[in-house]
Amino acid sequence: MPLPKLLKDNLSLPVICAPMFLVSTPKLVIENCKNGIVGSFPALNIRPQEKLDEWLSGISNELSQYKHANPEKKVAPFAVNQVVHPSNSRLQADQDLIRKHKVPMVITSQGNPTDIVKDVHSWGGIVFHDVIKTQHAKKAIAAGVDGIIVVGAGAGGHGGHHNPFALVREIREFWDGPLALAGAINDGQGIRAAEVLGADMAYMGTRFIATQEAQTPNEYKEMLVQSTIDDIVFSDHFTGVHANYLRASLEQAGIDVAALTSKDHVDMDLGNTNSWKDIWSAGHGVGGIHSIPNIEELATQLINEYKTACQLESFC
Ligand SMILES: Cc1cc2nc3c(=O)[nH]c(=O)nc-3n(C[C@H](O)[C@H](O)[C@H](O)COP(=O)(O)O)c2cc1C
Repeated sequence: MPLPKLLKDNLSLPVICAPMFLVSTPKLVIENCKNGIVGSFPALNIRPQEKLDEWLSGISNELSQYKHANPEKKVAPFAVNQVVHPSNSRLQADQDLIRKHKVPMVITSQGNPTDIVKDVHSWGGIVFHDVIKTQHAKKAIAAGVDGIIVVGAGAGGHGGHHNPFALVREIREFWDGPLALAGAINDGQGIRAAEVLGADMAYMGTRFIATQEAQTPNEYKEMLVQSTIDDIVFSDHFTGVHANYLRASLEQAGIDVAALTSKDHVDMDLGNTNSWKDIWSAGHGVGGIHSIPNIEELATQLINEYKTACQLESFC
């Protein structure tokens, strides 16, 4: 099944810049979309909640003006991430604003997307759901989602546990619809590799933190450049769901990494916690990050690498 027209016709690269708590800003979203990459942000990034209205107007207006002034350019749609776990107390209020602005794409994670799918389809929007397990993919498909985001082991944020080779191929046995792969994809080679594996798109987070437009402390960006895969700690201590963190940021916050225990309940109400401010997340792909470009430079680099990778035929 091909990608929905909304994506197929408007992208320069098959890439979604993933939503990232405390990292994604309107600037990051807009610059990605202007460069033909889907830009996204978690609704939970915005406090107070009512300010989401302002963010959505700002992003929609700037992108439609840019499209009008540059009719020859591919301008990607933007997406808002809704954490659909019951502990997200803002879900309905955020969804009301998403409906008001007819957001073109919604990315759901951590729960049952059924109600969101019905709502978003009412204005012709699309919903991709984020999964780390085959059974979650089956439930999301039953809920009527338009695409599945397969989050493999080593992804930034709440990374999965399963090998992406195995997980994508297993999900492809029952789902021939749009599929994006996440987890340690940093460059054009990785984007192409995701396609060869059976994905239609790459879903990239960590690489976009080390950019000029990401609104994170410079120290965080520098830490990404300095770190390698061995500097990543996978723990469910903070939210009750396993996530990948930069060891140096935990140590800097005075946390004894060796003594981390599991949290006994899931708490996804990120809007109520400051922990992600000082404790920084990143995926296994950090070893491939060597620079802090702006989005236009990064997009150009990714396109060039992707084109080169597409020409590699090897033993084909
Ligand atoms: C700092 C950070 C914050 C994140 N916050 C969210 C979030 O709020 N909602 C969500 O669905 N995923 C979140 N993620 C996961 C990403 O959307 C995406 O799945 C992941 O970054 C992809 O793996 P990669 O970082 O290895 O490219 C976050 C990831 C990072 C690194």
